[in-house]
Amino acid sequence: MTRSISKLAPHLFTLTTRVAPRQLPLSSSIRTTPRTFSTTVTMSSQNTPINADAVLDLVKARRSHYVLNKDLSTCSAERVQEIVKQAVLHIPSSFNSQSNRVVVLFGAEHEKLWDMTTEVLKTVVPPENFEPTAQKMALFKGAAGTVLFFEDQEVVEGMQAKFALYADKFPIWATQSDAMLQFTVWTALEAEGLGANLQHYNPIIDSKVAEAYKTPSNWRLNAQLVFGGRTSEAGPKDFMPIEQRFKVFGA
Ligand SMILES: Cc1cc2nc3c(=O)[nH]c(=O)nc-3n(C[C@H](O)[C@H](O)[C@H](O)COP(=O)(O)O)c2cc1C
Repeated sequence: MTRSISKLAPHLFTLTTRVAPRQLPLSSSIRTTPRTFSTTVTMSSQNTPINADAVLDLVKARRSHYVLNKDLSTCSAERVQEIVKQAVLHIPSSFNSQSNRVVVLFGAEHEKLWDMTTEVLKTVVPPENFEPTAQKMALFKGAAGTVLFFEDQEVVEGMQAKFALYADKFPIWATQSDAMLQFTVWTALEAEGLGANLQHYNPIIDSKVAEAYKTPSNWRLNAQLVFGGRTSEAGPKDFMPIEQRFKVFGA
């Protein structure tokens, strides 16, 4: 995939819009506090050449790439940060609760994460089985950076206290919003010519991460997206027949 997002969306403009929590409560007895505020949003115009095929091309092009290098020539560290910031800002969340948090690591800070993870894994993986784990850690360390995805539990608990009827749903919705963020960042980095893979060494690395990167105790780690220069194409992938996974009625 060589097309960049900016090439796919050449007609960008900025507008000011009013944003309000828009989730409809399932029960009419629940009211969201009317909370409107101004924000500046960058959107593509209705005349943009982007259509669903362009979006689906990006979706299809996102794959897991495990052998990555430190080459960010197709997408600079600044550009990676901009992509992550834009995604954090615009990914939806239940009741616009905005529970997603991220830390982006480059260079030595990224390598420190994978050294720390290796040390933690040494305490749980028997030494005689450690070689494959060590090789995986070396792969991740050899990449250019890692995006750490967190959920702010203070936000989740605040929503639970405010809307007790949905208390059991807010943790699920927060995780779903974070998954949307992970997918968006992964897809966008791929669109810029990088490769990435998604890892889950939480919770065993949580305390080390919090200590190393000074994250608040209410930030709960969900996933680690390792990214870097692609060294090869992704491998083959099997697909279940779509007929077993899709139904339609009334079309
Ligand atoms: C929710 C989720 C969790 C995943 N966890 C891991 C993981 O811990 N380690 C890993 O190497 N890949 C992980 N993956 C990557 C999947 O194995 C991969 O996306 C899948 O095999 C399809 O391959 P593709 O990414 O190339 O399309 C995860 C993917 C998803 C969506």
